[in-house]
Amino acid sequence: MALLLKSDSVIEALTPSLIERCAKFKARGITPKMQVFLVGENPASLVYVRNKKRLCEKIGAICEVTQLPESVTASSFEKQIVQSSLDSKIHGMFVQLPLPKHLHEVPIDYLIPPIKDVDGFHAQNIFGVFSGLPNNSYLCPCTPKGTMTLLAHYKISLAGKKVLIVGRSKIVGRPLALLMLTHDATVTMAHSKTPHLHELSKNSDIVVAAIGRGEMLDQTYFRNTQDQVVIDVGMNKRADGKLVGDVKFDAVVGMVHAITPVPGGIGPMTVVSLIDNLLIATELQCLKEGVKI
Ligand SMILES: NC(=O)c1ccc[n+]([C@@H]2O[C@H](COP(=O)([O-])OP(=O)(O)OC[C@H]3O[C@@H](n4cnc5c(N)ncnc54)[C@H](OP(=O)(O)O)[C@@H]3O)[C@@H](O)[C@H]2O)c1
Repeated sequence: MALLLKSDSVIEALTPSLIERCAKFKARGITPKMQVFLVGENPASLVYVRNKKRLCEKIGAICEVTQLPESVTASSFEKQIVQSSLDSKIHGMFVQLPLPKHLHEVPIDYLIPPIKDVDGFHAQNIFGVFSGLPNNSYLCPCTPKGTMTLLAHYKISLAGKKVLIVGRSKIVGRPLALLMLTHDATVTMAHSKTPHLHELSKNSDIVVAAIGRGEMLDQTYFRNTQDQVVIDVGMNKRADGKLVGDVKFDAVVGMVHAITPVPGGIGPMTVVSLIDNLLIATELQCLKEGVKI
């Protein structure tokens, strides 16, 4: 049986320092505040926002959710984002995705200033990933950041390791590849046009699945030598309603050294990274205004 790389022990270990960092701001009269924009009633989005708000409040920060109807116009949506971006009491902001089609043209990645962009999607923050800047100097995209934190917690070193990342999205695969490269891994990126995926996966020390296809990576993708590490980023609803990853967990768990469960693996790590980003954002804004914490 593989080592289960669960997020709960990581979050338990990290929470006291998040609370302490938040308290330092509060002692100076500054309460870190997150502004969330939620459009419509997508059930998964409602759950994600609730989880983010819960952790935010647990560490002592404020989380305000602006819930907008599905029918909100692009101009009204844009105006509200700009208003929050100018509000000095708001330190971090994000828009819960997905958005309805008519809002796809709203350039949220640019309307949210990089210093408040807790999702880490702004070009300036992507540049931070690209350049391998220190963690506390920019807002790193949350899922890749959470993956790195989880690996560090379980002392899984990347130096010299062969890593395969399946999935090249802008929010997961690509930034994660750069972070792992910065940590001296030899990274291979795969996508829907990549041939010989089985062979690539079997030849890797660490396999990251960020595909969005429920249980696609089954036992035929792993080498059964109990030495591979599997990071499953996927979150998919199976036909029977069960939440599953991109890896067929039950078939693979006996073949590898370590694996993240779904749920309880990368998902909560994304949330904790968002909260960490809120505190970094608050600190960067204090620095900019010359407030010493
Ligand atoms: N746990 C979390 O917090 C969290 C956060 C974000 C996302 N997710 C989950 O992670 C998964 C990926 O999300 P995403 O936003 O990165 O997805 P995405 O933007 O849809 O990207 C999926 C990637 O998978 C590749 N792909 C699709 N089918 C493939 C196949 N048969 N073989 C190899 N590669 C294939 C695509 O290749 P092409 O580029 O060639 O199309 C693409 O690069 C989803 O299940 C999502 O729900 C979880």
